[in-house]
Amino acid sequence: MRFTRELASVAESPMVQIATIAESMPDSLKLCYGESDLPTPAFICRAMDDAARAGHTFYTHTAGCGELRAAIADQIHQLHQVRYEVPEIMATVGGSMAIYAAIRALVGRGDNAVIVSPAYAIYSNSILMAGGEPRFASLALAGGRFVLDMDRVRDAIDANTRMLIVNSPSNPTGWVMTEAEQRALAELAERHDLVILSDEVYERLVYGAQLAPSLAGVVENRDRLIVVNSFSKTYNMTGWRLGWAQSSERTIKTLYRAVEFMTSNPAAMVQQAGIVALRDGEGYVAGLRAHYDARRQQVAAALASIPGITLPEMQGTFFAFPKCRFATDSTAFTAALVQATGVALAPGLAFGGDGEGYIRVCFASTEATLTTALARFRKFVIETGA
Ligand SMILES: Cc1ncc(COP(=O)(O)O)c(C=O)c1O
Repeated sequence: MRFTRELASVAESPMVQIATIAESMPDSLKLCYGESDLPTPAFICRAMDDAARAGHTFYTHTAGCGELRAAIADQIHQLHQVRYEVPEIMATVGGSMAIYAAIRALVGRGDNAVIVSPAYAIYSNSILMAGGEPRFASLALAGGRFVLDMDRVRDAIDANTRMLIVNSPSNPTGWVMTEAEQRALAELAERHDLVILSDEVYERLVYGAQLAPSLAGVVENRDRLIVVNSFSKTYNMTGWRLGWAQSSERTIKTLYRAVEFMTSNPAAMVQQAGIVALRDGEGYVAGLRAHYDARRQQVAAALASIPGITLPEMQGTFFAFPKCRFATDSTAFTAALVQATGVALAPGLAFGGDGEGYIRVCFASTEATLTTALARFRKFVIETGA
């Protein structure tokens, strides 16, 4: 038996090592994952239950039912004042499927795509699975915050580049792209005939604002842009697997023609619950943001008391991404930390080479868990003289 080169090139994340240790310890505190410890709100669970009982148990259109696509279109308009029509939107099995399909549609053998990094490993691995080459353009640190380094993005582009991939608000860095950065990226895409894949799944989780700006507000030619979004983070629906892609009609059609033979449609009753989440979820989202903001401030204060840590500004998402003098080998450090204290954090290397030397702390947890975890983390650093 011989696996394909494309799938064999997908390496196990350094996170798995940390998670495996944590899962084997009964009292471990797992701040290494990319999800909240809060359950999906009851009104969404009820909507799913009602929908299943009312007969939403059949296949829908591969791109999702019209009602959900229209509800997504209305939400985009309300939030970003841009009008996408139903044929320009498709519901997907999580934002993950939208990312994979978009990359498969545009990046093939001999092509490359440039990822603004550190970044969630789905992009580089989807590019590898498509037979392409992932390239990385690291964010820079300036004035205590991450900024887009356009020279690095420009330097990574060549004649075989097909796509620029950006995630804002960013997992793991918490960086939120400014409008000037958006415009610079859009101009570059225009100049080099590239498509931008903009992953905006954390758009509602920003602090000091209600919403992160969408690239859909800046890029006029819809062939140039694929926006990916998801219900996972906004409504704590990670396990439900519902997301969407928005782009030009012809791009969306190409994506769903292919997805028909991958996952086909997201579950019918989950789509119905998604409609209710969009319709009735604003109060919930506002409360969630306030909850995370309090945790964000708690974590910022706790990390500031740990020697050797520099914490870039946390503008969005539910992650802190401190640079740690003692974690030049972030996998070895986080492995030692979890073994000694039961506190599981994600090594920066899990987000590519540009993440090495950093650690990701998920703060979508309770005040008590964070207090205990960060106290143990601090004690470990001080006692080991890390
Ligand atoms: C940046 C980013 N994009 C996309 C996803 C995928 O989300 P889902 O497939 O649950 O919608 C995640 C999940 O962790 C993420 O962090």
